[in-house]
Amino acid sequence: MKDVYILGIESSCDETSCSIVKNGTVELATSTSTQIDIHENFGGVVPEIASREHVKNITLVIEDCLRKANMKIEDVTAIAITYGPGLIGSLLVGMQAAKTLSYIYNKPLIPVHHIAGHIYANSLVEELKFPLIALVVSGGHTELIKMTDHFNFEKLGGTLDDAIGECYDKVARVMGLPYPGGPKLDKLSKEGKPTYKLPIPLNDDSYNFSFSGLKSAVINLNHNEEQKGNEINKADLAASFQKVAVTSIVSKTKTALKDYNINNLIVAGGVAANSILREALTDMCNENNIHLSIPLLKYCTDNAAMIASAGYYAYKLGRRADYHLNSLSTTSLQ
Ligand code: KG4
Ligand code: ZN
Repeated sequence: MKDVYILGIESSCDETSCSIVKNGTVELATSTSTQIDIHENFGGVVPEIASREHVKNITLVIEDCLRKANMKIEDVTAIAITYGPGLIGSLLVGMQAAKTLSYIYNKPLIPVHHIAGHIYANSLVEELKFPLIALVVSGGHTELIKMTDHFNFEKLGGTLDDAIGECYDKVARVMGLPYPGGPKLDKLSKEGKPTYKLPIPLNDDSYNFSFSGLKSAVINLNHNEEQKGNEINKADLAASFQKVAVTSIVSKTKTALKDYNINNLIVAGGVAANSILREALTDMCNENNIHLSIPLLKYCTDNAAMIASAGYYAYKLGRRADYHLNSLSTTSLQ
C-alpha cells in the first residue's frame, strides 16, 4: 500500500505548529513556535496578540518542518487543519495557510477537531485499540469519551464548570506562579506534602467532573491565611490540590471503565503531562488490568503531529473539506 504523508497545521491557541506524519503513526518532522514567553507577561493568553504572532510564524514553521523532513509540499498526500475549537483569530491564521497550500498544490484538505487531535496523539505511541475510553484533560476540556472505532466518539461525561487545566492555571496564579501554571504547580508539589484539607469534588456515580468548588476552596484558604498573617506553605498547598484533583479524575475514569467493561484507556490533552496524574493512572490501570496509553510529553500539549495523525485516519475515512470550511471557536467533537 502506498504511504500516506499528512502535513498537519495547528494554531488554535498559543502554539503555531506544523508537522508531517507518515501513515498516522510515524512523526517525520515537527516545527512549533510557542508564544508562552509573550503571554506570560499578561498572566494568560491575549487573543489579539496570539493571532498576530501566528501571522508572523506560520510560514516559518511550515518551511522549517518541510526542511527538517527533507520534503517538498508536492510530496505530501494531504493537508490536515485544526478548524476548532479555539481562539477564532488564531484558528483563522492556520486555516488560511492550509487552504492556500491545498489550493495551490492541489492537495486534499482534511478538517480535524482539536480534541480529536489530542486523542490521536496516542496513535504516535501505538495504534488505538477499540473499544476504548479516552480521558481528555486539557486547558479547555475535561471529558470521558467512549470510542468503538476511529472517529466514533460518545461523550460519557464532562466537567460541569471549569476544565481541569483552567483550574490548575487559576490555582497556580493565586499562588503566584507564572502562566501557564499547571506544569509549575506540578513541579512545586514535589517539594510538599498534602497537608491541607480540601473538598472532594462531585463525589458521585456520574461520569461528570466539577472543579470550581475545589478552585474556590484553594483561593479562600490562601486568602484567609494571608488575612490572618499566616504564611502558606505553597508546596504543601500544591500537593494537597493535586491530590484531590487527581483522585477525582482517576476515580471517575475507573468507574467508567468498569461500568462499560472496557480494558483500554487513552489519555489526551495538556494535563496528561501531569506527573501525579500519569502515576495515579498507571497504578489504577495496573491494579485493574487495563491497557493504558499516554502520549509522550511532547505530544500532550498542543502540537501539529497530533493533528496530522488524526488527519490520516480522517483521510482514510474519506473525510474532505472544501474551501467553505470555516474556523469555529466552539464545536462539538466529531
Ligand atoms: O491541551 P493544551 O495544550 O491546550 C488546550 O487545548 O487547552 O493544555 C494546556 C493546559 C494548560 O492549562 C496547562 O497548564 C496544562 O495543560 N498543563 C499541565 C501540565 N502541563 C500542561 N497541567 C498540570 N500539570 C502539568 N504538568
Ligand atoms: Zn489543546
